[in-house]
Order: sequence, then structure tokens, then C-alpha cells
Amino acid sequence: MPEELIRRNREWSERIHSKSPEYFAGLAALQKPDYFWIGCADARVPANVIAGLEPGEVFVHRNVANVFHSADLNLLSALQFAIEGLNIRKIIVCGHYGCGGVNAACKDALHGDGLVDHWIAPIRRLRQTHAEALAPLEDEASRDRLAELNVLESVARIAETPILGSAWDRGLPIEIHGMIYSLKDGKLTLLQSVSRPG
Ligand code: CO
Repeated sequence: MPEELIRRNREWSERIHSKSPEYFAGLAALQKPDYFWIGCADARVPANVIAGLEPGEVFVHRNVANVFHSADLNLLSALQFAIEGLNIRKIIVCGHYGCGGVNAACKDALHGDGLVDHWIAPIRRLRQTHAEALAPLEDEASRDRLAELNVLESVARIAETPILGSAWDRGLPIEIHGMIYSLKDGKLTLLQSVSRPG
């Protein structure tokens, strides 16, 4: 019920305000996050919570299975604003084990409604590209590895955007970090860091 959310919001707002009366005024005056987080929309992987960050500390874009589609205007706009508007220099792509989108891409049968299958097509393509490496793995290990490959793929695709190319050409010290989160123990693992190629 929305009333329940409003009630929880009021409690939260009052709790913060009573601890720190200047808290909301400070946040309202300035947005200056250090990180741009691209993650999965899964309800179990909220960026601020799992990274231990407060409101104001991370700019966030989430979609199903943290896929980077090269023509995704939503993600590209957020990426450009993160770099040019917010002066963020650390980009995090975070996937997670047990990802429903990755698991769906592991099945031969299509999901059924078309649009989700279209969305996760890049993960299916990755599965085919890496079929030889994935074949010897058990089912769960294979899905876990595909989740990692999906993160590495998104990192590579972000790195090749003209947005990053232009930023790096101007000497901006931007780093892209690929991470994976485990639902089983709540831990993040760093898979890869990319700074200016070459
Ligand atoms: Co997911």
C-alpha cells in the first residue's frame, strides 16, 4: 500500500532529521557523488545499501541484468551527465550471481513475451561466443561465469563509447570497474579495472 510507504518515509525522515538537523539542507544544496553505478534492477541489489553508501554518494542507473545496449539513450544520457555534469571519475558496472536475466539467457527456450528476450539478447550472444569455455562447467558455475562475462562485456562497451573516448582524450582520469555481487554472502568482488586504453 502506498500509505505504508509514506508512513515509513516519515519515520525515516524524522529519524535522520533528529540525528542531524542539517542533513537534508546539505543534500539539497549539492549533488556530488564519487561513483556512477550501473547495476541490475533486481530488488536484492540496491546500490547504496550493498556498497555501504549514503544518499548523495552514488549516481545510479539500473536495468534488467545490467546490460549495456550501445543505443540505450537512457544509459548514455546518464553516463554523459555523470562525467560532464557531476564530474564523476569512477564508474562501477556491478552484476550479481543468481541474476534472473542471465539465467533466462542460459535457457534455450525464449522467455515468451519477446521484449525481455530482446533485452537480454546480448547475454545470449555472449553465451554463444563463450560456449567452449562454459561447456565444461556445472550449471550454476556456468551461469555464474556468464554473469561475470556480462559485466566484463558492459565494461568494454562503455569504454568504447565516444563519451569515454572524448573524456579520456581530454585527460580526464576516468576508471571503469567491473564488479560482481554474491547474494549468498553479500560480498562484492572486483573483476576488472579499466582506465585509458593503450
Ligand atoms: Co539481476
